[in-house]
Amino acid sequence: MSSFPPGFLWGAATAAHQVEGNNVNSNWWVHEHAPGTSIVEPSGDAADSYHRYREDIRILADLGLNSYRFSIEWARIEPERGFVSRAAIDHYRRMVDTCLEFGVEPVVTLLHFTVPRWFERDGFWRADDAAERFGRYVESALPVVQDGVRHVCTINEPNIAAMLAGGEDAANLVAHGLPNPDLAVADTLLESHEIARKVLSGVGGIASGWTVATQAFRSTGEPGSEEMLREYGYPRDDWYLENSRGNDFVGVQAYTRTFVGPTGPVPVAEEVETTLTGWEFYPPAAAEGIRAAWDLSGGVPVMVTENGIATADDTRRIAYTEQALAGIAGCLDDGIDVRGYLHWSLLDNYEWASGFRPTFGLVAWDPQTFERTPKPSAHRLGEIARANGL
Ligand code: NOJ
Repeated sequence: MSSFPPGFLWGAATAAHQVEGNNVNSNWWVHEHAPGTSIVEPSGDAADSYHRYREDIRILADLGLNSYRFSIEWARIEPERGFVSRAAIDHYRRMVDTCLEFGVEPVVTLLHFTVPRWFERDGFWRADDAAERFGRYVESALPVVQDGVRHVCTINEPNIAAMLAGGEDAANLVAHGLPNPDLAVADTLLESHEIARKVLSGVGGIASGWTVATQAFRSTGEPGSEEMLREYGYPRDDWYLENSRGNDFVGVQAYTRTFVGPTGPVPVAEEVETTLTGWEFYPPAAAEGIRAAWDLSGGVPVMVTENGIATADDTRRIAYTEQALAGIAGCLDDGIDVRGYLHWSLLDNYEWASGFRPTFGLVAWDPQTFERTPKPSAHRLGEIARANGL
């Protein structure tokens, strides 16, 4: 049996817009309802977790998991520029308190892609005062995280956010593969991250870091593919991992790998198993992401803040998770400081431009009644968590 270190975080993750429902003041809500959008369906009520969070946290705890990563929604906390909603702050504080009540360690993400409508309208991450505005939001959100939250993720997947930076069409990423990241936006996101870390450091006992999509680009080996690979890997992943140096931890979000040929990423070969997102079924992604993060950050503790697959066949989710965890156990054996494994996702949810069809959840829910049903994979992960080993 591979055992994991004492205190290892075993949990699952969600993001506000993907599970809460009715996030009407966010930029995504606007895009979902824009005429001609390539987003396949609007998020609507999503999983109604805004109201059902207590039940979700209880399910997670009952399974035997000890950690819940969720995000707080800037668009709810500051629905109009400069107006901070006390009620929204209280809501998220209740979520933290509910986690603590159930013995679940909250891992709070401050920004998971979505921003308030006004922030996008006023220039999005290209606005001169973007980092400053973000910093003010983080200050206003401090009552959520002070006292009881030990891990805060500042910005989710800044490397993906930099590709969505324009906001002209938030569905671009999914519709057209991998657009070029906006490097000026990348700098602004780094500045925002650093401001957030500074604000958080004023509160005792909070470890902070950002979470990076480690996309595991590989060359096809064709002539010209190595050059293309360098162009792909660096601005899209490596720069963010290198800029995690000195952070308290770095979040690794790993799902698959992507082959790059002389002109860019190539489609997955037909004989290879794919998931509902069309990605290769590739469980070693987690361990590869951890190793890349550890090396490029110069030994910053790693937390797997997302890992999983979209599938209707839960036996494949179990197989994927067990194999991913075996790889993570190997990283630990090699002396890499891995702090936790947070599966994506606790619930089936709104997969952005792809809508509700790609089901990443350990827990399903009925679209009419919202009734939750844990899948066998949820019980399996809970069993591993209770044993603290595979
Ligand atoms: C990463 C993102 O953080 C999350 O929002 C998304 O649903 C998963 N990957 C799966 O694509």
